[in-house]
Amino acid sequence: MHDTLLLFGATGDLAARQLFPALLHLLRDRLLPADFHIVGVARHAYDDAAFRAWLGERLSAAGEDGDGAAIADLLQRTRYVAVDLADPAAVADALGGHFTDRRCVSYLATPPYLFVQIAEGLKAAGLLDAPARLVLEKPIGSDLVSARAINAAIGACVGEDRVFRIDHYLGKAAVQNLLALRFGNTLLEAVWHHRWIESVDILIAETAGVDGRESYYADYGAVRDMVQNHVLQLLCLIAMEPPASLDADVLRDEKLKVLRALRPLRADSVLRESVRGRYEAGLVDGQPVGGFSLKAVQGREPVETFVALRASIDNWRWAGVPFRLCTGKRLAERCTQVVVTFKPTSHWLFEKPRRERATPNRLVLRLQPEENIELQLMSSLAGPEWGALQLQPLPLDLSMQPAAHRRIAYERLLLDALNGNSTLFVRSDEVEAAWSWIDSIVSAWHEADVPIQPYMAGSWGPAAAAEFLQNAPNTRERAARNGRGVG
Ligand code: BG6
Repeated sequence: MHDTLLLFGATGDLAARQLFPALLHLLRDRLLPADFHIVGVARHAYDDAAFRAWLGERLSAAGEDGDGAAIADLLQRTRYVAVDLADPAAVADALGGHFTDRRCVSYLATPPYLFVQIAEGLKAAGLLDAPARLVLEKPIGSDLVSARAINAAIGACVGEDRVFRIDHYLGKAAVQNLLALRFGNTLLEAVWHHRWIESVDILIAETAGVDGRESYYADYGAVRDMVQNHVLQLLCLIAMEPPASLDADVLRDEKLKVLRALRPLRADSVLRESVRGRYEAGLVDGQPVGGFSLKAVQGREPVETFVALRASIDNWRWAGVPFRLCTGKRLAERCTQVVVTFKPTSHWLFEKPRRERATPNRLVLRLQPEENIELQLMSSLAGPEWGALQLQPLPLDLSMQPAAHRRIAYERLLLDALNGNSTLFVRSDEVEAAWSWIDSIVSAWHEADVPIQPYMAGSWGPAAAAEFLQNAPNTRERAARNGRGVG
């Protein structure tokens, strides 16, 4: 296991909210090497003591102050180097000659426009020589051209087998469970096919807003921030062919085939196949919240905070099966789920409900905030007072006992990067295939001049997106209550 983590962007939000807490938990659970070192690297002019003081405060703010001994241990292993990350020579100067005797993993938790400069600085300092590894946070670029340029420049500094591209959804236990469910159960694999499946819905709904990240978000919007990576990775795990093994490249080869089979969106149909939205002021959990600030993004192309898409996978298994993908900020509930809706029974025997009103079988895989699986079947109301057999929905709740403590997705990914296991990381060709599909959406939107529709914070997005949200939590009850759609 590698024993030194060079964390670039150490004073950033991701480091404070996710990466240092994850490292703290790993240290507390004794999952890191005895002489593990952390070197925070960022532009801010701290020295070691000032950085430790800042980090201690941030860990408390993140609610991690319960374990004083573990925090003290983390802080005493942590050093800090202040450097201009945009200057490769400065990076090389600041780090050169210091850590070459250790087995280093450099983690770039920075915006993608700094990746190449930092990697060049690391290479010049000898810190990318084997067996050193490089971890890149998402997003890798903002379209296919920029992603290719980054991948090529990074490839000139370090071999692909030592590059670990993060998509933190792959570090979530519930997401890995999709693989277990699909390939550990004959029952599911037997019906995982266009012959038996009517549609698939993938939803990542957040109640959080863009707050504080307007500038980044203004260049990305929901389609680049969420669909290009997290939503498409979920889609790959649902749609890919069974891999011959769980070896990193075998698994990633299968995901790549799915991404390459995604049908590009076109200007003449994109209005039917997608909805874009942007939240306005409203109520979330009973609290008033503001709209997405347009002031912060003045002069730039308008972006969406909500997107719904109908994706088609042009291959043998999925021909004709719509994949409805939906994600948005400031929605009514936080919920990540996959709903697989099966075809109706081929011949209906029962009087009630009428065939058209029968609920199809559904498999609902909820990944966040709770983790559970529900299988929706039909069952009989059989009682003597019914002259004919009447059916009613029978939801089988297959909830699992929650784990004693849920791990931050980054804990697993940090461990895997330190151990050199790249199964849960994204390969360069996957990133490029995903961008290629996203680019087709963005250019179809431009060509067709697809509007961004407003929605109230705390709602389920623009009214036009109702058909993409048929299986969102409580949608049916809500629609029945309101006597209308799900806007
Ligand atoms: C990040 C996005 O990658 O994922 C954020 O940049 C988003 O905009 C976040 O809020 C969602 O992650 P999670 O783990 O909270 O579902």
